[in-house]
Amino acid sequence: MPILKVARMGHPVLRRKASEVEPEYLGGPELAEIIEDMFETMVEYAGVGLAAPQVHLGIRLFVMQFDPDDEETLRFAVNPKLTPLGNEGWEEWEGCLSVPDIHGRVPRNDRVRLEAQDHEGRVYAEELEGFAARVCQHEYDHLDGLIFIDRMRDYSTLCFGEEYRRYHAPRPKAD
Ligand code: NI
Repeated sequence: MPILKVARMGHPVLRRKASEVEPEYLGGPELAEIIEDMFETMVEYAGVGLAAPQVHLGIRLFVMQFDPDDEETLRFAVNPKLTPLGNEGWEEWEGCLSVPDIHGRVPRNDRVRLEAQDHEGRVYAEELEGFAARVCQHEYDHLDGLIFIDRMRDYSTLCFGEEYRRYHAPRPKAD
């Protein structure tokens, strides 16, 4: 299974609105293979989510695993719909594989409803909150040509990885 090349900020594919996955592909082997490759690419680069435009595919699909140590948090979202349910303006740090080594604080809704199809074409819906809701909104934005920096309201928090880890990253707990 190949590791896919990740598009970086500036590549036009990241700024286009992605197209719905056509019904004939839903639950099919081609889509399953793309999803598998995207999952492996996400793991390779230690991401918690990856959207199809980030691997040069203009289709509405993302994968995410909001806890890398917990397979139960793995999600495949084909033709997703997102409904905000909670409070806007919850700020936390984000980064993106398409914007390497850059971090910034981004306001998001703290609770969303996700409706999508999985890799086998099964429809599902669930409510996500906290970090899971954040990852979901970040990935969904990629399908509309948006990057997390577009959502920031204060660029004074924009920083490089080294400075992020040195001054801003949450300290690992001692226990
Ligand atoms: Ni991203």
